[in-house]
Amino acid sequence: MKVIRIATWLAVVVIGGYILATRYMGGQETIKGPGGPFVLTAHTGETVSNRDFLGKYMLIYFGYSFCPDVCPIELGKMSAALTMLENEGLDTSTLQPLFISVDPERDTVEALADYVVDFHPSLIALTGTPEEIAAAAKQYRVYYKKRLQEGMDGYLMDHQSVIFVMGPNGEYQRIFTSRDTPADMAASLKPVL
Ligand code: NI
Repeated sequence: MKVIRIATWLAVVVIGGYILATRYMGGQETIKGPGGPFVLTAHTGETVSNRDFLGKYMLIYFGYSFCPDVCPIELGKMSAALTMLENEGLDTSTLQPLFISVDPERDTVEALADYVVDFHPSLIALTGTPEEIAAAAKQYRVYYKKRLQEGMDGYLMDHQSVIFVMGPNGEYQRIFTSRDTPADMAASLKPVL
């Protein structure tokens, strides 16, 4: 009898302590995912911010138009995923693919306007001042750095290659990496259409 009573009290203390601890920790701080506000200039010349895309799922890729390989591959995959969904008769207008340049020196509005035609028609390419781009990259914790390279117009940009999926309130959902195929991406995005 006494043993049972002690066991019961022990259970109450342990469970109660757990509830208090999780509540306290939950109130303390929630781990913030990547993402946040940005103000940049689109390839159309318009000033755009993250708020312009509220209500849509943003697919965000940081890169640069002069990139010889990785950027065109990833933007091509993003485009192919949207086309796959459209070929299934789905409306992809709630998906907003965005390309944020990390090379403002070469990626002028005009350069980006030329570049986007190679990809899905809904792709919006964004550039800005070095400070604006640095601020956007910081929100998404994207690393990039200029690397001097002879014969490549003087330099290349080293940069992380990740597609961020952000929800209708700008909240982080998931990332796609080089391992995800257009079919993987389409399958993942399909339920939100
Ligand atoms: Ni690249």
